[in-house]
Amino acid sequence: MVHRHDVVIVGAGLAGLRAALETSPYVDTAVISKVFPTRSQSGAAQGGIAASIGNVDPEDNWEFHMFDTVKGGDFLGDQDAIEVMVREAPQVVYELEHMGVPFSRTPGGRIAQRPFGGHTLNFGGRKANRACYSADRIGHVLLHTLYEQALKNGVRFYNEFQVLSLIMKEEGCCGVVAYDISGGEFMIFHARAVLFATGGGGRAYKITSNAFASTGDGLAIVYRAGLPIQDLEFVQFHPTGLYPQGILVTEGARGEGGYLLNGKGERFMKGYAPTLMELAPQDVVARAEQTEIDERRGVEGKDYLHLDIRHLGVGKIKTSLPRIQELALKYSRVDATCEPIPIHPTAHYYMGGIPTNLDGQVTRDEKNTVVPGLFAAGECACVSVHGANRLGANSLLEAVLFGRQTGKAVVGTLGDLKWTDLPKDSKKEGRDEITWVLEGQGHESVPDIRKELQESMTANCGIFRHEDWLKKQLDIIHELTRRYQNIHIDDKGKRFNTDLLEAIELGHMLEFANVIVYGALRREESRGSHFRRDLPQRDDKKWLKHTLAYKTDGEPQWKYKPVVITKYQPEERKY
Ligand code: FUM
Repeated sequence: MVHRHDVVIVGAGLAGLRAALETSPYVDTAVISKVFPTRSQSGAAQGGIAASIGNVDPEDNWEFHMFDTVKGGDFLGDQDAIEVMVREAPQVVYELEHMGVPFSRTPGGRIAQRPFGGHTLNFGGRKANRACYSADRIGHVLLHTLYEQALKNGVRFYNEFQVLSLIMKEEGCCGVVAYDISGGEFMIFHARAVLFATGGGGRAYKITSNAFASTGDGLAIVYRAGLPIQDLEFVQFHPTGLYPQGILVTEGARGEGGYLLNGKGERFMKGYAPTLMELAPQDVVARAEQTEIDERRGVEGKDYLHLDIRHLGVGKIKTSLPRIQELALKYSRVDATCEPIPIHPTAHYYMGGIPTNLDGQVTRDEKNTVVPGLFAAGECACVSVHGANRLGANSLLEAVLFGRQTGKAVVGTLGDLKWTDLPKDSKKEGRDEITWVLEGQGHESVPDIRKELQESMTANCGIFRHEDWLKKQLDIIHELTRRYQNIHIDDKGKRFNTDLLEAIELGHMLEFANVIVYGALRREESRGSHFRRDLPQRDDKKWLKHTLAYKTDGEPQWKYKPVVITKYQPEERKY
């Protein structure tokens, strides 16, 4: 079956929905999502969306925000893109307010703002109240509001469809092939423009804040189509994942005044980031925590620490952090109003992704040559605003802002994007993949391979990395990939076949995990979230550049792109 829409957006998180709001008033727009839209990973975001609207700190401005973002990203972010993001952030937040987002309020009735990691006033002075929030449910309220707006705009939703491949013609994109999860049928989505907003891939790690659906499908699909993936070696670990599952415990808890304590009851951050303490950027805090755990200063010598919010008082916790209280109680049996919360770092966000220009157009090389008809936004994309480490509350901003920007660009370029005839047998790649999984007669199990991948990625390519561990991890991935060729699944049915979907997702994770590890091995320095124990220094001479990985049968082929530096030259990064 063939569906035709001018614009097909893959992914119904914040980036996809915000883009759909731009395109749908002008052109026929469809959104394809593998989960029901309001179950997208964006809904798990808790603490805030960054914008220098200055409701609490009137002196705040976009230049402070820009400097923090550049420095937080260890100078790898492209400063032209960062400037666009931070300059337009206030406008984007006001638009959200006018759409009906129920932000928390200051006593004077303005949008409330709280401190977040790495956000400062006056270029590293005191902490800035910059994250606009809605208790600890900002992702949830943004997602629901944008979904309602998209329904109002008449966006056509295809929920529970797994996208399998891009349809490429003459170097451009003219659609996607998807599998209808409930009906078990292949669908072609023929389009003038395709926008990937497929989110991240935290599920390649054992402990993650990401939803089960965050398996990096978009990354793998684009990579398999011969297009590059940029800077994927940079994987962010959020410092406060609930122990043991890794469920997010917002940085907003520390923004409101929560402390981190080691097993000796010490606020250990004073030894790692004496100025910003618990509100240093996520990479700094996660490394400090892992060091405490590795050096046996975890609680009771175990691999967790404490987040203490008791002193905030029951009233504050109930109004500003109700979800945290509920999650701690449900999953760790801890009442956060009278006990510290057990936490440990959790895989959270990929800074890298599908390279794009400032309009969200996917680019194919170091010269930023555009792939006609293909766009990307949100976590799956790399417009490179986060560099080597993202500041908290900048991801929602990026998703909404570049979703909006990309949606506008789609409308602006659609005149040049004519309908092209579909290539012959466009479904072949997707159909072959599904048939291969359903008919597999091997003896390997998908859950076993996935577990080994997740555990080994956490052990060998996590917060700390080393040449020996990375080489070992490559061997493991190659062996798991070989075993993957020999899988079988028990359920051979067509409808809601989760065995089948998990097999497809595992193939995606193996594909991009290989890029992460090769990239981490190749990048012979430490920068932001990428910390090599054997090479602990940043090396601007050799590595102040972006990596582009292209699929081959073995190690990816690499190209490099310069970092765009406009205002801030690299300097030492101290907090
Ligand atoms: O801590 C949080 O609420 C997550 C924020 C982020 O990573 O942007």
